[in-house]
Amino acid sequence: MIKRFGVSIEKDLLEVFDKIIEEKGYNSRSEAIRDIIRDYIVREKWNIKKEKVVGSISLVYEHDVYGLADKLTDIQHHYHDVIISTLHVHFDEKNCLEVILVRGKVEKIKKLYDELSSLKWVRHTNISITDII
Ligand code: NI
Ligand code: NI
Repeated sequence: MIKRFGVSIEKDLLEVFDKIIEEKGYNSRSEAIRDIIRDYIVREKWNIKKEKVVGSISLVYEHDVYGLADKLTDIQHHYHDVIISTLHVHFDEKNCLEVILVRGKVEKIKKLYDELSSLKWVRHTNISITDII
């Protein structure tokens, strides 16, 4: 079911908004606002421990650092209940890229992310969260 609601907003603010969404290719304000609300909800969920989300964690590391690959495997086995799949790419001679798809409680996914990102020799980590709304 679709509901309509009215919004009061400063003229200048609306002009800037309209310009941005037009450049992005939105056909209507409604569609843009729906997307913004969805994004807001997902971002807020990320602050609530018990919420469930879906996402991906990517990490870049040097594969020849002694013990690192084993450590990464150990951590992923420990969190097997929130990991759906892992994609490994041998990026170049030295570096590996891993993308870990996760689904589960925010609390646990944050812990996994913290453990991975705080490992020595993991050069960069990033997390992206989404949900079906
Ligand atoms: Ni395994
Ligand atoms: Ni590799």
